[in-house]
Amino acid sequence: MFNRLSRRAFARLASAAALAPPALRALAEGTAAQAPAANHIALTFPKGFLWGSATASYQVEGAVNEDGRGPSIWDVFSHTPGKTNDGDTGDVANDHYHLYKQDVALMKDLGLKTYRFSVSWSRVFPQGTGTPNPKGLDFYNRLVDELLAANIQPYCTLFHWDLPQALEDKVGGWQSRETSEAFGVYAGYVAKNLSDRVKHFMTLNEMSSFVDIGYRDGRHAPGLKLPPAGVNQVRHHAVLAHGLAVQAIRANAKPGTKVGLAENAEACAPVIETPDHIAAARKAMREVNAGYLTAVLEGKYTDAYLEHHGANAPKFTAADMKAIGSPIDFVGLNNYTTTWVRAATTPQGYAVVPAPDSYPHMMSPWLRIGPQGLYWAPKFIAEIWGVKEIYITENGASSTDKLTPEGQVYDTDRVMYLRNYLTQLHRAVAEGVPVKGYFVWSFMDNYEWADGYAYRFGIHYVDFKTQKRTPKLSAHFYKEVISRNGVA
Ligand code: FCB
Repeated sequence: MFNRLSRRAFARLASAAALAPPALRALAEGTAAQAPAANHIALTFPKGFLWGSATASYQVEGAVNEDGRGPSIWDVFSHTPGKTNDGDTGDVANDHYHLYKQDVALMKDLGLKTYRFSVSWSRVFPQGTGTPNPKGLDFYNRLVDELLAANIQPYCTLFHWDLPQALEDKVGGWQSRETSEAFGVYAGYVAKNLSDRVKHFMTLNEMSSFVDIGYRDGRHAPGLKLPPAGVNQVRHHAVLAHGLAVQAIRANAKPGTKVGLAENAEACAPVIETPDHIAAARKAMREVNAGYLTAVLEGKYTDAYLEHHGANAPKFTAADMKAIGSPIDFVGLNNYTTTWVRAATTPQGYAVVPAPDSYPHMMSPWLRIGPQGLYWAPKFIAEIWGVKEIYITENGASSTDKLTPEGQVYDTDRVMYLRNYLTQLHRAVAEGVPVKGYFVWSFMDNYEWADGYAYRFGIHYVDFKTQKRTPKLSAHFYKEVISRNGVA
């Protein structure tokens, strides 16, 4: 009944539009110059808000055998039959290693204030440890110089999942604390060499992704399915690596260098904005992230976390926890989805609500749309831990982008997604939550890990045969956002 009625109403509206006077029609078609309504509220961000975009080494660089780079676990994994969609690898990817100048020019054209890239550990230390390879670091020197010449601030991630294969072979990768220690040395070395020009470093990208998907579920490199105790120990080595890297960066970088991480903490949000659900979501924010962000910001595992894992809990020392809790300058939050939480009369006081089957998502099935996470997560992070500087280090969406015969990509779904998330972010910033910048994922379509090239996240379309980049509608939207410093 509802369906029939609304269809009839739609037909009525459509014929009315066809009969409408020219001025109205122009308005509907977007061709009339419109003055904003008197009561229009512009969703403007604070002056100096840093609009950025992000990529990661293995996803864009290619050039896997050049200038002395050693293999990473993603080279080996992606070349193992059956592990990635269509057997796709990052061998060439966006060939950004060679095309970086052209890419930086595109960034400049977009008006980017900042760009977040990651360093490939095995370019710099082909064996993970030992003698560094100066040619590997040189690429990042060139990239940083090019960015600065374009007036774009470089934000550098030290680990975005491409662990040197040598460490996986020698010590079992993140199963060993030797990898955490090696990461500290590598992080200190990169910071020593880049911090004359790079002022913000992020240690690890999304610990929960590379630990849980790589070492528990086996769907990402190195493709292991460890039992719970093993996974918890890997998780501990990840947070330990973060802490050791913070210390090494402090010891080696130029004064004034800022250190943080880029973590995909679950963004807990109340199912309804009432005091009881909000209190429940705040509690959940701390507990569901206990193995990662909470450990880093508190230098301890919560009692509930240790109790929950019981005999499988990680083995650690007081010195480990001290390193893990090393003070950081900012929190980077990667956010795509929202974890909906309700109040519950259980001892824990909250319940995570599973998504109904009909919940809307973007092309990637995991990417359930929930813009409110971008309001609540930074707000809770500031409230619970008193964090003074927050960045949204990733946010974006996959879409079934298609080039029109005229060579355009009208990704209206991605634009809708971004507009809604930015509106929620604006709400946080307007309340004084200290979010200083936002990085859209991603600057261009790239190698989406086990999903290969089929899932496009870029605001620039990439033809992987010709390496041609085309700005999508979302790039035009983002350019407008940047130029007006507000939601467009
Ligand atoms: C994040 C990753 C990033 C990219 C996006 C879509 O989890 O950090 O590399 O794959 O998802």
